Amino acid sequence: MRILSGIQPSGALHIGNYFGMMQPAVALQTEGEALYFIADYHALTSLRDPQALRANSRRVALDFLACGLDPECATLFRHSDVPQVTELAWILSTVAPMGLLERAHSYKDKLARGMSANVGLFSYPILMAADILIYDSDVVPVGKDQKQHIEITRDLAVKMNETFGPIFKLPEPRIRVASETVPGIDGQKMSKSYGNNIDIFGDEKEMRKRVMSIVTDSAAMDAPKDPEQSTIFKLYSLVASKDEIADMREQFVKGGTGYGDFKKQLFDKLWQYFAPMRKRREEILNDKSYIDDVLAHGAKRANEIAKQVMERVREAVGLR
Ligand code: TYM
Repeated sequence: MRILSGIQPSGALHIGNYFGMMQPAVALQTEGEALYFIADYHALTSLRDPQALRANSRRVALDFLACGLDPECATLFRHSDVPQVTELAWILSTVAPMGLLERAHSYKDKLARGMSANVGLFSYPILMAADILIYDSDVVPVGKDQKQHIEITRDLAVKMNETFGPIFKLPEPRIRVASETVPGIDGQKMSKSYGNNIDIFGDEKEMRKRVMSIVTDSAAMDAPKDPEQSTIFKLYSLVASKDEIADMREQFVKGGTGYGDFKKQLFDKLWQYFAPMRKRREEILNDKSYIDDVLAHGAKRANEIAKQVMERVREAVGLR
């Protein structure tokens, strides 16, 4: 089984990225051949600062390694170290119906939020399909927001197979129900671009401030509260033990505890949960060549696979 996923280097890692993708990806790294990449080509659709792109890409590599990616088990690489992926994206674009892309939620959502529509943003799902298909991927661990992109990938693979004969496997999304959409401090999906993120590797004061600003209803301290509607409770459920979750649920339902107290409990758990990863991150930072070595090794392996698949594709479509 081949497992593949990617993350855009668009800024600091937040807990939505961690529980939606990184943690499941790390859990899968021993289940087959795992390939994880830093989607720097994709980030160009919205980031036009070369220094920031380079720095963010390194930081994502550092954060992913700190969160448990083991380069002995999984391949970590930069998207742009496998430029053949853009060739495959071009080939896929020649069979992609416009309507398929026009229906993409992520594109419509970005337009609605005022992002200017460049062609790269519109054709983003085609590059993402190429990312997945070029490694003959079987399983793609992602958050729910990426589900439609995987469906588009499957549609394009089917279209290619129908047109040129069997070239591609059909990949399956792997979406963990408990963390399919991690809420941000305003209760909407956590996203850097919504400004509602809680970053994992921010300093203590910053994380506390973000947790304390989680939006709640105005229920009085004494009043019973609904845990299922609470962002605090949802986030706490990701990091606390079964007993601790049951205990907080009871405190919610019983009443007598204010949201401020619940937020403090959440902050303490979050801070404690990520402590070993902060420690590992410091160790990696002290090893000057570690990240470059891992990425160079990853690029080599990713290129080996991509080269083989591209030979198959070029042959099938008549480019040789
Ligand atoms: P990106 O960089 O926006 O996010 C990386 C991963 O984090 C997940 N995620 C979340 N999961 C649950 N709750 C949230 N609030 C949350 N926020 C982010 C995302 O679902 C994603 O899995 N297009 C992709 C990157 C990509 C990719 C690929 C992924 C490019 N090519 C090929 C898989 C396969 C993206 O922008 O993810």
